[in-house]
Amino acid sequence: MTALKSETIHTDRLTLLPLQAEHADEMAAVLSDPGLHTFIGGAPDSAQSLRARYERWAAGSPDPAESWCNWVIQLRDAACLAGTVQATITADDRGAAAEIAWVVGTPWQRRGIATEAAQGLVAWLRKHSVHTVIAHIHPDHEASSAVATAAGLTPTDQWHDREITWQLAIS
Ligand SMILES: CC(C)(COP(=O)(O)OP(=O)(O)OC[C@H]1O[C@@H](n2cnc3c(N)ncnc32)[C@H](O)[C@@H]1OP(=O)(O)O)[C@@H](O)C(=O)NCCC(=O)NCCS
Repeated sequence: MTALKSETIHTDRLTLLPLQAEHADEMAAVLSDPGLHTFIGGAPDSAQSLRARYERWAAGSPDPAESWCNWVIQLRDAACLAGTVQATITADDRGAAAEIAWVVGTPWQRRGIATEAAQGLVAWLRKHSVHTVIAHIHPDHEASSAVATAAGLTPTDQWHDREITWQLAIS
């Protein structure tokens, strides 16, 4: 499998734009609530450290078997950014497997944005030889579990650190 690159994805209300370092200033404000880190750990980044992180992500994985695909979530009508989705895609002898994750800034939550973005991401992965999609979700994280369910994933009996592995097998 050649390395996958994130492409623009359109859903009903959203445009998922390939993430670039230039998104860091706006995203630092979007992701500024420490509450976003309750289940995923860490703390909000400054615009400067977010820019450095986005530059690393945009440069891609040093491992040729792995693709780092990251998007910012843009609300098309408001033309503002509201969060991110990501897929780490690993090539294997059956094609590729993807681990996905999502974050939506606190002011934009509970409007179905993560659900719509995750569904758009999974639809994109389906078109790119991905046979398995997984996500790691804390067992108490109701919102993220609901997003994963809506994107077609189901919980497995496997754990990764203190999180449950969710999975979608694509035929
Ligand atoms: C998880 C997260 C992305 C959800 O974003 P969102 O845009 O609010 O999600 P949606 O509006 O699509 O809601 C999805 C479901 O979760 C429910 N939900 C949203 N926030 C909730 C909350 N705080 N408590 C309980 N349920 C919640 C919604 O009602 C919806 O359920 P439904 O489909 O049964 O109606 C957001 O809470 C977040 O960014 N959290 C911090 C980062 C994180 O933990 N990411 C997960 C890494 S895998």
